[in-house]
Amino acid sequence: MIRSKSVAKLRRTSAPLDTSCNKDSIVLPKPTDWHGRSVYAALKARKTVRSILDKKISLQTLSNLLWAACGTNRKAGPFGGAGITAASASNSQEIEVYAATEDGVYLYESGAHRLVLAAKGDLRPMAIGRGQRSWGSKAPVRLVYVVNIGKFDTAGYQEPGLYDPETQKAYYYVDAGMIAENVYLFAASLGLASWFHNCDKATVARHLNLPATKRPLFGQTIGHPGKE
Ligand SMILES: Cc1cc2nc3c(=O)[nH]c(=O)nc-3n(C[C@H](O)[C@H](O)[C@H](O)COP(=O)(O)O)c2cc1C
Repeated sequence: MIRSKSVAKLRRTSAPLDTSCNKDSIVLPKPTDWHGRSVYAALKARKTVRSILDKKISLQTLSNLLWAACGTNRKAGPFGGAGITAASASNSQEIEVYAATEDGVYLYESGAHRLVLAAKGDLRPMAIGRGQRSWGSKAPVRLVYVVNIGKFDTAGYQEPGLYDPETQKAYYYVDAGMIAENVYLFAASLGLASWFHNCDKATVARHLNLPATKRPLFGQTIGHPGKE
């Protein structure tokens, strides 16, 4: 059970997420303790929920969600870089998180804890496997995980695996999974729905105008649960 105070707070702070002004960047409010379920209770509740309502989440909830995903949790992290909530190979932090909303797609910058507009328009129906396009595409936010291969060049601890194609692939898929599980647990801790899924990689790359060194991997949709 989520403590009732937390639910009341979630309702109070649910001024809808409004990105309709299509600002080039959105400074997110500081992440705050959302007083959700314990880690144990969140683990018990974690599951994929594919039925997600067309109902906004607040900017504070989005801020907390992105911070939970891969936000900065210590300035002095490993190998000379900042530390984030998700582990990554050699602290490369090579997974970029994009938030697709009704109005545009924003790149999350964990250092500044802000969103930077990457593309205007509603990309939510494309950030999922083609066969599931009509599912959850009205959810308030669909995250897209994109690997930035170039980040391995600046990883704090340089080791041969960072440049071996097979090892590199293992690293970035694991690192994306670390973030995705954080998101699952964040959602479960607040009673929100969360759904990790494929994405239409070629279409997303084209719309985001990504260079060859950046590859979309997966998507994850978050919002208020509907009836399953
Ligand atoms: C690598 C991976 C890819 C997935 N791709 C999809 C997908 O494209 N569509 C979908 O509906 N679910 C997808 N899922 C969700 C799984 O089907 C789901 O996690 C699994 O059935 C277990 O259910 P649970 O998360 O509720 O425990 C994916 C999960 C993983 C880990």
